[in-house]
Amino acid sequence: MAAPNKVTAPALLDLTIDNITPNTVKINSQSSDRRLTYLMERLVTHVHDFARETRISTDEWMAGLNFLVQCGQISSDVRHEFILLSDILGLSLLVDNINHPKPPNTTEGSVLGPFHTHDAPTLENGANMASDPKGEPLVCICTVQDTYGKPVEGVKIDIWETDSSGHYDVQHSDRNEPTERCVMVSDAKGEFWFKCILPVSYPIPHDGPVGKLLGKLGRHPWRPAHLHFMMEKKGWDHLITALYMRGDPYETSDAVFGVKKSLIVEPQKIDSATAKEYGVPEGSWVLKHDFVLTTDQETDNLRDQLALEAMKKQGLNLKLVDHLPVPDLD
Ligand SMILES: [Fe+2]
Repeated sequence: MAAPNKVTAPALLDLTIDNITPNTVKINSQSSDRRLTYLMERLVTHVHDFARETRISTDEWMAGLNFLVQCGQISSDVRHEFILLSDILGLSLLVDNINHPKPPNTTEGSVLGPFHTHDAPTLENGANMASDPKGEPLVCICTVQDTYGKPVEGVKIDIWETDSSGHYDVQHSDRNEPTERCVMVSDAKGEFWFKCILPVSYPIPHDGPVGKLLGKLGRHPWRPAHLHFMMEKKGWDHLITALYMRGDPYETSDAVFGVKKSLIVEPQKIDSATAKEYGVPEGSWVLKHDFVLTTDQETDNLRDQLALEAMKKQGLNLKLVDHLPVPDLD
């Protein structure tokens, strides 16, 4: 941190509605970290503009700060209210779309949500990850491929869903082990398959500040039925996505904006031969899906190209350093 006598900003006296912003930006600009400086410059500029444009009242500003305090107070190891807040503001989807752009015919991303955990058991192909007897049995038969249609082996795949009541295991206060979640690894043919239950629609937690905000905005808290997937392998773009069940009543009004047409799937009633082949009862549902991963290189190239196009369109004098924009001062 710079000593006070080294600060190069002008004297911070008599600051006004009109000059507080450049002065704040300037005093924040003493770091050698150009990306941090740029992020803070834009953040301060937009937040100050928000205050000026809305002529925000002191009560409204304090209510906003108290809202953030409440988000922190209700959060815990198994509840992340700030992810929910980011989700319902559309920010989570925006950040994912910026950072993981997808070429055509590859698997698009979706929101992570607040319910991923790191304690899911690694299961073998064919295992049952659900322990809820009330759920309708579903078998998912999947592959992981590259953009040329070749199988990708050794991808670590996190999978998680709610139970039949629409709750993740972490929402049950008596949780003593992970349920309705697992980790699988794609085999030499790029395949993985598992038994679970047919996903159901569920409301995001709405007993906290984010739920209250949704209520005030006249919005419902529901998400359409889905299965979450997270795929990772060194050299491949980290994929966070979900598959959404076609025909769900909330298909086009997801509270967290996660649904994309390419991620909507339609489980079928299983035929006898497939039921026998995969050892699941007749009457089960079956879902077959091929995931297509991009390499880090493919994603980096596309992200850089889109960033440069966006910067040009905005007329900003920026350059990319480590794939992220910073002011071009050279
Ligand atoms: Fe979910």
